Amino acid sequence: MLLCTLKIYILSFMKPLQAKLAQYRAPQEAKAAGIYPYFTPITSEQNTEVYVQGRQGKVLMFGSNSYLGLTNDPRLKEAAKRAIDKYGTGCAGSPFLNGTLDIHIQLQDELAEFLGKEGVMLFSAGFLANSGVIPDVVSRGDYLFYDERVHASIMEGKLITYANTQKYKHNDMADLERVLQKVPLEACKLVVTDGVFSMEGDVAHVDKMVDICNRYNATLMVDEAHGLGVFGREGRGTCDHYGKLKDVELVMGTFSKSLASVGGFIASDKETINWMKHSVRPYIFTASITPASTASVLEALHIMRSEPERNAALWDNQRYAFNAFKDLGFEIGNTSTPIIPLFIRDDPKTFAITHQLLEDGVFVTPVIAPAVPGDETLIRVALMATHTHEQIDIAVEKIYKAFKNLQVL
Ligand SMILES: Cc1ncc(COP(=O)(O)O)c(C=O)c1O
Repeated sequence: MLLCTLKIYILSFMKPLQAKLAQYRAPQEAKAAGIYPYFTPITSEQNTEVYVQGRQGKVLMFGSNSYLGLTNDPRLKEAAKRAIDKYGTGCAGSPFLNGTLDIHIQLQDELAEFLGKEGVMLFSAGFLANSGVIPDVVSRGDYLFYDERVHASIMEGKLITYANTQKYKHNDMADLERVLQKVPLEACKLVVTDGVFSMEGDVAHVDKMVDICNRYNATLMVDEAHGLGVFGREGRGTCDHYGKLKDVELVMGTFSKSLASVGGFIASDKETINWMKHSVRPYIFTASITPASTASVLEALHIMRSEPERNAALWDNQRYAFNAFKDLGFEIGNTSTPIIPLFIRDDPKTFAITHQLLEDGVFVTPVIAPAVPGDETLIRVALMATHTHEQIDIAVEKIYKAFKNLQVL
């Protein structure tokens, strides 16, 4: 009672915003319980094993999106260093004004050629590509349709756009048709989906979506953040995996996963790129991707194309880990990718297991709402081409033990 009165007294001296924010206690509570799982400082390069601040010995990394294991590749490091020597550390401006380098244009051209598209524009983050392009291409009077499980960056674009917006049920093609049917054929419509869904690891039906979009006169945009380097010829992504790359009008990708850096891009036809280059706000009003990142992405792209054995190793690891988790009875949903969700369906247990695993030397990422619906919390295991079967065996054994201890299995 006294404590409550004291709290009300303190809050009454705050401005309303500060009073509202001061009520947010979830992180402090998780910290007090010793299970806070975020912002863990890593003190080494991103690899299959990492060092974590304050912890003796290496930790097995199963929470990384470096699918091809290129983040510590000496060739990428050298390319980045050479670019710093030549161009300095930053561009100090947006691509629109003083921030376009010749290597930006080279990367755009190489990506366009790789994807068989007429043009590419680069962004300093994949998040900015999605959140910038969507409200730019569909606006007042237009329509945006999106899978209910799309990434937060697409949701951001949905929140910003003045277009009419409508979600459809996850990967449900009948529901996509249902919502498209309600809109006039001549209306301007964009349908957006993740190619690979980033938390659950399932794949969009891009082949069916192309047919549906053509039938309803809608433009299709696919986010290849987790498809690039993983699916398709030389890692061209899920659209290519379905043989539909040329039919998907807007292909988005990121450099922060298989390509081992930061930044993102959109590939499309000449006219669309021309429009977007002169109108997308997070393109015109943000500084360009750094020289070091640009050069390392170019190098990563060359390696991805010339070393198919990396992709083969990634899939070998995917099959190996997938079968191990399945045989042990884990609930792993509909994944068919190197993202393996291990469902827990309970926030505190998800945090506790993540914490226990770090103690045991295995780094995995906890996924709770809003990244997934509240009753679908999970541990996300992500595989890299460079993991060994022995590392996978150790991780699986420790994860199994942690799940058993908390009676999730
Ligand atoms: C599906 C998806 N789209 C977009 C992004 C954003 O990419 P970036 O890290 O380049 O901002 C992510 C990153 O987590 C993602 O998973």
